[in-house]
Amino acid sequence: MRGYREMFDESIHDPTTFWGEAAEAVTWTRKPQRILDDSNPPFYRWFPDGELNTCANALDRHVDGGRGDQAALIYDSPVTGSKRIYTYDELLDQTARFAGALRALGVARGDRVVIYMPMIPEAVIAMLACARLGAVHSVVFGGFAAHELATRIDDARPVVVVSASCGIEPTRTVEYKPMLDAALDMAEHPPRNCVIVQRDAHRCELNPNRDVDWNDLTGADPVDPEPVAATDPLYVLYTSGTTGKPKGIVRDNGGHAVALLWSMRNIYDIAPGEVFWAASDVGWVVGHSYIVYGPLMAGATTVLYEGKPIGTPDPGAFWRVVSEYGVKALFSAPTALRAIRKEDPAGTHIGRYDLSSMRYLFQAGERLDPDTFAWASEKLGIPVVDHWWQTETGWAIAANPMGVAPMPIKAGSPTVPMPGYDVRILHVDGSHCAPGEEGAICIGLPLPPGTLPTLWGDDDRYEASYLCEHPGYYLTGDGGYLDEDGYLFVMGRIDDVINVAGHRLSTGSIEAVLATHPAVAECAVIGVADEIKGQVPRGFVVLTAGTSEEGLAEELVQLVRDEIGAVACLKQVDIVPALPKTRSGKILRKTMRGIAHGKDEPVPSTIEDPAVLDALKSVLQD
Ligand code: COA
Ligand code: AMP
Repeated sequence: MRGYREMFDESIHDPTTFWGEAAEAVTWTRKPQRILDDSNPPFYRWFPDGELNTCANALDRHVDGGRGDQAALIYDSPVTGSKRIYTYDELLDQTARFAGALRALGVARGDRVVIYMPMIPEAVIAMLACARLGAVHSVVFGGFAAHELATRIDDARPVVVVSASCGIEPTRTVEYKPMLDAALDMAEHPPRNCVIVQRDAHRCELNPNRDVDWNDLTGADPVDPEPVAATDPLYVLYTSGTTGKPKGIVRDNGGHAVALLWSMRNIYDIAPGEVFWAASDVGWVVGHSYIVYGPLMAGATTVLYEGKPIGTPDPGAFWRVVSEYGVKALFSAPTALRAIRKEDPAGTHIGRYDLSSMRYLFQAGERLDPDTFAWASEKLGIPVVDHWWQTETGWAIAANPMGVAPMPIKAGSPTVPMPGYDVRILHVDGSHCAPGEEGAICIGLPLPPGTLPTLWGDDDRYEASYLCEHPGYYLTGDGGYLDEDGYLFVMGRIDDVINVAGHRLSTGSIEAVLATHPAVAECAVIGVADEIKGQVPRGFVVLTAGTSEEGLAEELVQLVRDEIGAVACLKQVDIVPALPKTRSGKILRKTMRGIAHGKDEPVPSTIEDPAVLDALKSVLQD
C-alpha cells in the first residue's frame, strides 16, 4: 500500500493521472477523455466531456451487478416506532416510478425541485428521482421555517416542491404544510405543483389546484436514467454565508461521483455490502454525501435514522442502531457525543450492546474537542476520526484516510489534507504562515473533483466570496494552522458564520430578522460558547426612541423562531443602550465575541466610543 505522502503528492502534481484513475470507479455513459478543463481560471471543470447518470450509479448498476436483494436503505425511526429495509431492487423501483411521476408533472432535465422533508425514505427517493431525470434538487432542512424556505424557493425557482405533512421531533409534531403554504405565499416564484407525503401522525389539507398526494403517484410508469454531462448540476444546497442571503452551493454530477466513490473506499474504508451510517439529516451536506449518494454509489447499505442521540428513548440510541444493523462506520457530529456523554458519562449504555461490527467513529460538522475525543476513544476502543469539510467541498478537505493509509491520530486535529486539497495557511497580506502559526486556511486552485464549481446563478458572488481575498486560492472561512508534521488544526470560523449543534447558521440572517421588528433600531448577533451545542447565537438590540422594553426580548426570540426556524436556537436577546462601533459605523462583532468568550480583547484604535464597549462588558460576560 503506498503511503499517504506519495498519494497526496501525486494528486497535486499530476491531478490528471490521479483523478483519471479514480474515475474508473464510476459507470459512465460516455467515459471522459479529458480530466480537467483549466482553460478559464478561476473556474475549473472536471471531466468536461464525460456523461453519466448519478442515480444509475447509485442504484441501477448495483441491481445489474447482482445486488438487487441486498439492503440499500435501512429506515429506523424511534420517533414513530417504525423500521423498514429497502433492498436495491425496491429502492430502484420506487425511485424510477417517482421519477416518472415528476416527469408527468412537467419536471425535465435541468429543472429544479425543492425537497422540504423530514428524515423519511421518500426524501431519499425524491432526491434520487431528480438525479434520474437530470433535474436539480434543492433540499431544505426541515428545521427551517417559512422565510428561509421562501428565500431558497425564489433563488432555485422550482417546478415542483416535494414535502410532507409533518416532521416528528421528540417533544412535538412539526407541521410542515402551514410553513410551506406561508413560504409559497411569500415567494415570487412558487412552483406549479407540490407533492405531499401524508404521514400517520398528522394529515394535512391539500390544495386541489396545486397539491398532489404522494400516494396517488406511486403507480406512475418507471423511467430510465437520463445521461447528463459530468458538469451538469446534480443539486443546489443552500448554506449560510456571512449575509442574510444564503449561498446556493452547486454540485456537479461527474466530479461528485468520482470524489464520493474515492472517499467511501479510502477515507471511510467501506466496501460494497458493508453498512455505513451518517447520523445527520438529508437537509445538510453530510446527509447528501453520506446518507444518500456516497454509500449508495459504493453499493453499501445506508441507515436513515429519524431520531436523536438522546431522548429517543435514551443515550443508548446510537449504540442500539449500530448493533442492530451491524454498522461498520458511524459518522456523527461532536455535539451528539457531548449530548450522549452528558446523560451517560460512564458509558453504561455502550456496554448494553454488541458493538463488535463498529470499526470507526467519524466526526465532523464542528471541531472535535480533545476532551470529547478522549471520552469517545476510551469508551468505544476504536479509532475516533475527526475530519473537516464544508457544504462547499461536499467531502473531506482534511481527514485520516483509514481505508488506504491510516495515520496516527492527534487529538484536536482532523489529520491531513486529502488528495487534491492544496491546503495553505495565509496571513492577511497573503504571505504564508510558518508551521504552528495560525492564519486563514486557504486551498490552492483548482479544488479537487466534487467541490463547488460556482454558486447557483451567481459566478460573481462565487468569486467575491471565496476567490478574491487571496488570488489563486479558495478561502475556506476557517482559521487554523499546520503543524511540523503537516497535520491541520482547525480552530474556528474567521467570519460571521456560527456552528450551532453541528448546524451552520449565519448571524447575518438572524440580524436581518431582528431588524425587521419596528422596535429595533440596531442589532448585532454573535456566537457564544455552549457546553453541548458548541455555539449558540446571542442577540443584542438597541431600541428605537420611546419604545417599551416590556416583553420585547421574548417577542424577538419568537420572531426568529417563526422566520428562520427552531434550529436557529436563539434563546437570549439583550436590550442595550448602544452597540460598539468603529468611527466608520461598523459594529465590532469580533471584539464582542472575544469579550463574551472571556478573552482579554484589545480595544481597536478605530473605536468610536470606548465607553460603549465598557458598558457592554458586564452584559457580554453574563
Ligand atoms: N424539523 C423541525 N424542527 C427541528 C428539526 C427538524 N428536522 N431539527 C431540529 N428541530 C428543532 C428541535 O425540535 C429544537 O426545537 P425546540 O427549540 O422546540 O426544542 C430546535 O430545532 C433545536 O434543535 P437541535 O439543535 O437539534 O437541539 P436539541 O436540543 O433538540 O438536540 C442535540 C440537541 C445535540 C441532541 C442535537 O442537536 C443533535 O443531535 N445534533 C446533531 C446534529 C447533526 O447531526 N448535525 C449534522 C452535521 S454532521
Ligand atoms: P457546513 O458547511 O454546514 O458543513 O459547515 C462547515 C463548517 O463547519 C466549517 O467551515 C467549519 O467551520 C465547521 N467544521 C466542520 N467540520 C469541522 C471539523 N472537523 N473541525 C472543525 N470545524 C469543522
